[in-house]
Amino acid sequence: MEQEVIVEQEEVVEQEDFVVQMRGINKVYPNGIAANKDVNFSLRRGEIHAIMGENGAGKSTLMKILFGLEQPTSGEILINGQPVAIHNPQKAISLGIGMVHQHFMLVPSLTVAENIVLGMAPTTKSRLLVDYKKAVQIAEENAARYNFRIEPNSKVMDIPVGMKQKVEILKALVRGAKILILDEPTAVLTTQETTELFKELIALKEQGLTIVFISHKLKEIKQITDRLTIMRGGRTMGVYNTADISEAEISRLMVGRDVVLKVVKDKAQPTETILKVRDLEYTNRWNKKMLDKLSFSVRRGEILGIAGVEGNGQRELVEMLFNLNTPDTGTITVCGESIINQPQNKIRDRGVSLVPEDRMTYGIADIATIEENVISDRFTDSRFNKGPLFNVQEIHSECDNLIVDYRILAKSRKQQVKMLSGGNIQKVVVARELSSKPTLLIADQPTRGIDVGATEFIRNEIVELSREGAAVLLVSADLNEVIELSDSLIVMYGGKIVAYFEDTSQLDDEVMGEYMLGLKHQTEEEIAKVSYE
Ligand SMILES: Nc1ncnc2c1ncn2[C@@H]1O[C@H](COP(=O)(O)OP(=O)(O)O)[C@@H](O)[C@H]1O
Ligand SMILES: [Mg+2]
Repeated sequence: MEQEVIVEQEEVVEQEDFVVQMRGINKVYPNGIAANKDVNFSLRRGEIHAIMGENGAGKSTLMKILFGLEQPTSGEILINGQPVAIHNPQKAISLGIGMVHQHFMLVPSLTVAENIVLGMAPTTKSRLLVDYKKAVQIAEENAARYNFRIEPNSKVMDIPVGMKQKVEILKALVRGAKILILDEPTAVLTTQETTELFKELIALKEQGLTIVFISHKLKEIKQITDRLTIMRGGRTMGVYNTADISEAEISRLMVGRDVVLKVVKDKAQPTETILKVRDLEYTNRWNKKMLDKLSFSVRRGEILGIAGVEGNGQRELVEMLFNLNTPDTGTITVCGESIINQPQNKIRDRGVSLVPEDRMTYGIADIATIEENVISDRFTDSRFNKGPLFNVQEIHSECDNLIVDYRILAKSRKQQVKMLSGGNIQKVVVARELSSKPTLLIADQPTRGIDVGATEFIRNEIVELSREGAAVLLVSADLNEVIELSDSLIVMYGGKIVAYFEDTSQLDDEVMGEYMLGLKHQTEEEIAKVSYE
């Protein structure tokens, strides 16, 4: 019904109010997946418009069509009322459209400034070096103009995700974008970075830009958008003024059921210590102390949460736990044996499983199939071997079960991972790690970028693993998640543990916030309680 009302409005409001109109868009990928089905989508000049929907709903596809990265199977696009064919991104850019992808498309080995100007002028690699000063100048001028904080001379591989995203946005703005598409921009950001991004987006809107904001986070959408389009299963479920629709209603339209995000769990009954970290110290190459005398333990049967604003050492800690980096001093043991400088397969052999924060870099072989990815860490598992041969049936059924349980939207287990939508790729990694029956699970932002339905399942899985006897270390920037899931909790600030809560049932956001922002810290005696022998 609502959809019809809006259609009428569009006719009354006349075309010139719309910068973009996409009409009757259908998209069938070569593999047969119909990602967009008769989609209508419009953008009013100067609005922030959300596209909402679960993983696989067709949001990215629709925007890739607008940006010329994919061609619609049928349908038409009007820009400022004129029908256009957008055959490639160059055409989109010339029409004033810019897109920041779910997975950044920057060149890691180049600096921020180089990435911002990359490909703008016909330069060879050596020319680019000659023009480096100019690149920095362009980067700085635009950063100042739009009030973005960036480091032009840092290599992209060395900067945090929040800054990478700013680089992507600047790249689009420098190329003259008037319509800016952000594909799940906050999925990778901390609360602080998100707040900063929102301020920037509102400023851009005030300068007359039109912004498309893809997300499935209800609170954010309510906060920042003017209108929203909801997608489910490739179709639009409706277009609404954000002020006129409740979070519950949005959620219902997105997933088709009411989602309960409360986690039900029995009281933890921790037994022996599995992970023991003592006096861990690490100073990064910019001489910043990222880990400062960090000591804690995680026991069988419990979930220890690490809360904190991102950038306070959590990432470095996780890197140390999986030998992606080496501490300056200190010890890390799993079941009594040191894992420092141990190869990752040896760490896995000890029963350690990792859901990495950056699943695209560390988590996945994207040209391999879902099945190959899921099974990659357990070729040697007796369940999957029949004498010298693989037990193919067993492997297939394990994989099919995971696809169903984790709601991985795919045609089959034989599908290449790179063909999946971003959220579904994440689910493949999480499914593999959680289903490997670890002794110690390190889960770093396990539900980031994942839709509500699968999030609920993943959270319950984590609880179940711990209740079956796994030790779980949960790092999450999502305060609700870390409080809900953890049995006990530490807060990191400036590379240190500033608080330890043995029991999380009485915690609230406000108290946590004070520790997380460094306004408060507990005594050393209180903090030392987290170091079980
Ligand atoms: N390049 C592709 N080839 C084949 N199928 C794809 C491709 N990209 C996405 N899909 C499929 O199209 C559907 C919609 O994906 P996508 O638009 O990425 O969803 P969303 O962004 O809403 O999560 C999914 O089922 C996905 O697996
Ligand atoms: Mg997407």
